[in-house]
Amino acid sequence: MTKYLSADPDNILEAAQMIQNGGLVAFPTETVYGLGANALDVEAVGKIFSAKGRPAADPLIVHLYGLQQISSVVSSFSPLAQRLAESLWPGALTLILPKQAVVPDLVTSGLETVAIRIPNHPVALALIKAAGTPIAAPSANRFGHISPTTAQHVQHDLDSRIDIILDGGPTSIGVESTVLDLSTTPARILRPGGVTREMIEAIIGPVNVLGLRKKAEKGLPSPGLLEKHYAPRAELVLFRGENAWQALISYLDQQKTTGWKVGALAADEDAPELEKMGVLVYHLGTNADPTNAARHIYAGMRWLDAQKVDVMVCRDFEAQGLGLAIRDRLARAATSINES
Ligand code: TXA
Ligand code: MG
Repeated sequence: MTKYLSADPDNILEAAQMIQNGGLVAFPTETVYGLGANALDVEAVGKIFSAKGRPAADPLIVHLYGLQQISSVVSSFSPLAQRLAESLWPGALTLILPKQAVVPDLVTSGLETVAIRIPNHPVALALIKAAGTPIAAPSANRFGHISPTTAQHVQHDLDSRIDIILDGGPTSIGVESTVLDLSTTPARILRPGGVTREMIEAIIGPVNVLGLRKKAEKGLPSPGLLEKHYAPRAELVLFRGENAWQALISYLDQQKTTGWKVGALAADEDAPELEKMGVLVYHLGTNADPTNAARHIYAGMRWLDAQKVDVMVCRDFEAQGLGLAIRDRLARAATSINES
C-alpha cells in the first residue's frame, strides 16, 4: 500500500522516518517529483531500481539540503564547483563530482563520480534535513516513461510500488535539472534542464553541450542520455526547420485518411488552426515564453496519452534558454523527427 500524504510538516516528518527506515518516498522538487531513498543505504537504494524498473547502469542524483553536507559525499569540491553552487544552489543544477567512498556503487553505477543537487523546494529541503541523510532520487516515474510533475502522475506510475507519496502540488519548472560535468575543460552539459546554459555561462564562461546519442553506446558519459527516453505511449512526431508549420499541416492532412486520433502539444498561437482541423490540442502557453511550455510539456504528453490519441504532433522549440531542455526532451520522446 502506498500512503498518499499532503506535504504538511507532520507528514514530512513521517516521510523522513520512512527514509531512515529504508523506505521509498516520492517528493516534490522544483523540477519534477523524485523517488527518494537513503543514499547511504544500499538496500534502500536497490528498492528504487526495482520500483522504477530501472537498469542498474543508470546512476542516481544525490540530493542535499545544504552545502554543509557536501563533504560527506564529495571528495573534492573545486573552486569552479563552489562558484556554481554559490550562485545556482538551491536550484535545478546537478553537478558531477568526485565521490566519497561511503556513497554506494549502486548509486553511481560504479562510477568514481557522484551527481549532486540541492533542490529549490521547501518540501524537498525539509525532508532531506529531517531525514538527516543525503537522499538518492531519480525522477519518480517508471523507467523510460515521462517524468512526473504532479503527485497524481507519481501515483499513476508507482502506486503500490512505493511507501509514501508527498503531494506538494505541481512542480514549477517542469523539466529535470541540468546535469553538468566539471571533469572536462570546458565543462559540458550532459543533460540540458531547468538551469539554462546562459545562466551557467554567465558564471563560468563557455560550456559545451553534449549532443543526442542515436543509441546506447559503450562508454556513454551519462547513461540517462539514451535517445528514446522520457516518452509517451503514443507516437510523437516532431517538426522542426524553417518550414515546420507547413510540414505539420500537410502531415495532418494525410492523417485524415488513416482514421487515427491526432493530438497536438501546441503554443496558444498555433492552437486555433489545429483545432479547426479536428486535432485535440493541449495548450503550452504563448510561443514567446518557454517557461510555460517547460512547466506543462510532460503533463501535456500524459494528458494526450490518457485521451488515447494514436499520434501527437509538436512544433520544435528554439535552442535558447529553457527551450534547449524542451528541445532535448521532445527529441528523446519523438518516434520521428521531420526536418524541413
Ligand atoms: O531534476 C532532476 O534532476 C530530478 C529531480 C528528482 O532531482 N531527478 C532526475 O533524476 O531527473 P534521473 O535519475 O531521472 O536523472 C539523472 C541523470 C541521468 O541522466 C543520469 O545518467 C545522470 O543524471 N547521472 C547521475 N549520476 C551521474 C554520474 N556520476 N555521471 C554522469 N551522469 C550521471
Ligand atoms: Mg528520469
